[in-house]
Amino acid sequence: MRAVTLVVRGFRNLADAEFAVPEAGVALVGPNGHGKTNLIEALAYPVLLRSLRGARDRDLVRFGGPGFHVGLDRDQGPSIRITYVAEAARKTVLIDGAEQRTITEALGHWLAVAFLPADISIVQGGALERRKWLDRLLSLADPHYLSGLLRYRAALAQRNAALRAGDAAAAAAFEPALASYGAAVTAARLAWAEAAASGWQAELDALGETGEVGLRYRGDDALIDPAAWPDRLAASRRRDLQQGQTHVGPQRDDLVLTLDGRALRAYGSTGQQRAAAIALRLLELETIRRERSAEPALLVDDVFAALDGDRQARLACRLMRGQAQRVVAAPRAASLPTELDLPRWSVDHGVVREDG
Ligand SMILES: Nc1ncnc2c1ncn2[C@@H]1O[C@H](COP(=O)(O)OP(=O)(O)OP(=O)(O)O)[C@@H](O)[C@H]1O
Ligand SMILES: [Mg+2]
Repeated sequence: MRAVTLVVRGFRNLADAEFAVPEAGVALVGPNGHGKTNLIEALAYPVLLRSLRGARDRDLVRFGGPGFHVGLDRDQGPSIRITYVAEAARKTVLIDGAEQRTITEALGHWLAVAFLPADISIVQGGALERRKWLDRLLSLADPHYLSGLLRYRAALAQRNAALRAGDAAAAAAFEPALASYGAAVTAARLAWAEAAASGWQAELDALGETGEVGLRYRGDDALIDPAAWPDRLAASRRRDLQQGQTHVGPQRDDLVLTLDGRALRAYGSTGQQRAAAIALRLLELETIRRERSAEPALLVDDVFAALDGDRQARLACRLMRGQAQRVVAAPRAASLPTELDLPRWSVDHGVVREDG
């Protein structure tokens, strides 16, 4: 699926505009701080109806402005219109003109995968970073995963609140929900990791890495079965009550990434960690493409400058493969590999122009 028209109003430093986005995509070039990432953020906003940088909605409103609007028309699928009013802290989402009642039914209509400099933290950071990434990707690939995950989180929060209040009976009341949704979340993550491991190696080989990589889900495998939960929860209850939190379940799991048998997080070079993170994004792309039978757009923000020439060329070829629309931002045209043959837009003080 491709963006045909993007409308932005009141969004960060971007001048209000309506863009006709070329079918192949664009390369955005402009000095630091002029609005390239803001434009990528606007284009990514309709995916999950939130900022890809984790900013709050009110931070997206142009300084001093009343709110923002992002509109997206595509080659396939309904149009999306999002309006956020700062004073009321209210967000309205129209899909083909129909107002959506909940955020969960409004998201996932537009599919895009973002490659960001901060992605290295998926590899370098703690388990929470990897779980967040995995949950986002599985949620986009399968709306049932998202609804199960939200129910699991709600049951977990309620059980933890009861534990903190020292109320074992109240805590136990949330355990059936914990078991059924927690088993589904664990099973989906485990199945994904098992299926994805060889693809990750292949993506890294293609990016020019020479080592043998490993991707493994680390959790309690028995918890894919709801029937295994009652014993596990009973065994952990005393400790759970003492510490006011649940020590059983996928909120404690991790995705273990290795290079030649050693943890990439601890032993990988910065370049190896960056390549590993890019390959994870490529897995995200392949998973969403397969599960949703649609081609997500690729939003690539400033990832080329950190790579050596060979890896730049390999990544550019990978991104140009296939039919996806690509929006690639860089502060200097010179840091974009020649393989990346895309129409160029310049970004200057929030004003975006077609070059030439
Ligand atoms: N809510 C806002 N309202 C107005 N301006 C904002 C808002 N939020 C951020 N900005 C400004 O937007 C400018 C452009 O930010 P952006 O991150 O898009 O730059 P960039 O072109 O990607 O730069 P770099 O090459 O350094 O990554 C920043 O200078 C910032 O001050
Ligand atoms: Mg930027």
